[in-house]
Amino acid sequence: MLNHITTKDLHPAIGTEVFGHSIARHLNPEHIHTVKQAWLSHPVLLFRDQDISDAEHIQFAQHFGRMERHPSISHRASNHPEIYRVSNVDEAGHILPQESNEWLYINLSWRWHTDSSFRHIPSKGSILHGIEVTSPGGETLFANMCLAYEALDEKLKSRIAGLTVTHSHDHILSLSDELYSRQHRGEYTPLPPVIHPLVRMHPETGKYSLFLSPHTMTGIVQLPGQQGMALLDELIAHATQDRFVYCHQWRQHDVVMWDNRCTMHAVTPFDNQTQRRIMHRTTIVGDEAPIAAC
Ligand code: OGA
Ligand code: MN
Repeated sequence: MLNHITTKDLHPAIGTEVFGHSIARHLNPEHIHTVKQAWLSHPVLLFRDQDISDAEHIQFAQHFGRMERHPSISHRASNHPEIYRVSNVDEAGHILPQESNEWLYINLSWRWHTDSSFRHIPSKGSILHGIEVTSPGGETLFANMCLAYEALDEKLKSRIAGLTVTHSHDHILSLSDELYSRQHRGEYTPLPPVIHPLVRMHPETGKYSLFLSPHTMTGIVQLPGQQGMALLDELIAHATQDRFVYCHQWRQHDVVMWDNRCTMHAVTPFDNQTQRRIMHRTTIVGDEAPIAAC
């Protein structure tokens, strides 16, 4: 029990279910405050059985900050551009062809990543509503990046202290030879590369975490290319061990709300030509650029 709401941890490291809370109904300041407090100590919250409209989803999300619009224009919902459609099904209800720009892009963003790491001010948090869900496959993995940082040995902690990493949205596209080779790779709001600390301090909890987002990271500023990428690969392998990761098996109308300032996530493969998966996401604008841990 956590101030009026009952919770249960889903994994020792990360993932907490909240019971008896309708995110469409419980919108008064007291409830929102309670959810905020729960979220700061439990960076991945699950609310089950939330049969909400996109408008209700957005209304809930706006209590936590302004809404981001995703740079991929074709993945925004046409009625609600604040909704990012994480789906293998188009708005007309058809499964996206395997070779379409839209599927190739979404498929890439299912590698380990942190939402909006390609922005100068990355997103604070994301809220994802499972509308059509898959099984087996299509699970979402969440890693606790504070615990991953804390578990590093002191030698590695001092080796990475003060390092910064270049992140670029274009790098996502380059991960698919097929998509990258096309003249028209889809429509994206252009974004210049940005530099973020490798170890960041959470602005509200003060905790340190590894800030990794493999699909946007192109190198460590202070190290030669290969050496930087090898160090990042070592940190990714460390942070994605089972002991830091919760695997969420979706049920229809689950809503998961995660803190992008201290987590990373990925999606497990599923048969995208026979199974339909429709997830709607709102993304909360961050309050400030990531703060380097010192
Ligand atoms: C996202 C994402 C997770 C999922 O919405 O940010 O990466 O389970 N998708 O589809
Ligand atoms: Mn994501």
